[in-house]
Amino acid sequence: MKILNFGSLNIDYTYSVDHFVRGGETLSSETMNVFSGGKGLNQSIALSKSGAAVWHAGAIGTGDGDFLVGQLKSAGVNTELIAVLEGKTGHAIIQKAKDGGNCILLYGGANQMITKTMVDEVISHFEAGDYLVLQNEISEIGYIMEKAHERQMKIVLNPSPMDDKIAGYPLEYVDYFLLNEIEAGDICGEQGEGEELLKKLSAKFPSAKIVLTLGGDGSLYRDGDRLLKQGIYKVKVADTTAAGDTFTGFFIGGLVQGMDAADALEWAAKAAAIAVSRPGAAPSIPSKEEVDRF
Ligand code: RIB
Repeated sequence: MKILNFGSLNIDYTYSVDHFVRGGETLSSETMNVFSGGKGLNQSIALSKSGAAVWHAGAIGTGDGDFLVGQLKSAGVNTELIAVLEGKTGHAIIQKAKDGGNCILLYGGANQMITKTMVDEVISHFEAGDYLVLQNEISEIGYIMEKAHERQMKIVLNPSPMDDKIAGYPLEYVDYFLLNEIEAGDICGEQGEGEELLKKLSAKFPSAKIVLTLGGDGSLYRDGDRLLKQGIYKVKVADTTAAGDTFTGFFIGGLVQGMDAADALEWAAKAAAIAVSRPGAAPSIPSKEEVDRF
């Protein structure tokens, strides 16, 4: 069984700042680093480092994004389905505050140039029972879901970053949701918290398995009547960028390698803890050996 992650590839320009820049303010940053990133790329690297076999599909522009493909390759991800398109690679401008928290400005670039023809080509390489992992940083997500459903692939959706387009996707096809409380509230049509919110989302999508992430309070998992709770592992925070992507990659990676959901949640929480203790997005993602030793 194969995993297809159809997702974004970004160049992350990460600036360390005293505070997030305010409207009308000009602020000097203390450091600037260029990292590989994009929720798609980060999740592919996490999936692969967890030991799963991953094909990344997506697009970069001409000339500026080759190192992103190199990073995926060196993490063991199959990159044959990544297109090089006329234009710029997607990028993110990330302000990283002193407490490790961030705010992110995205430029979609090639990530938003995915076409239906490209989707048809990519999906033709997969079959019933293969997994499709999606975030919300590329074009044609709804169409990708339709095509994957027709192929009887299992669909994993991390609806991040949340926007108005999500409501138009065929969410009834999703087998696994991984999302935070704001995203879950938006999908439910009313904001809420914790178990109550999870119950509402489960009622809306009864056949889906759901991981609701709660930031510092860990995560909840619901599959029918089964409810699991997972706390976080406290570490000194360097940079929270890609912690959620690491969690997603190790959770799904654990499941496809035969772990029970409870063990996969714990594994994912450990992997995310290591990621937040290091700078950068993709470069902060640990190996499975590091997670096992943690
Ligand atoms: O989830 C973190 C990622 O979000 C960053 O790497 C950035 O590129 C944005 O996509």
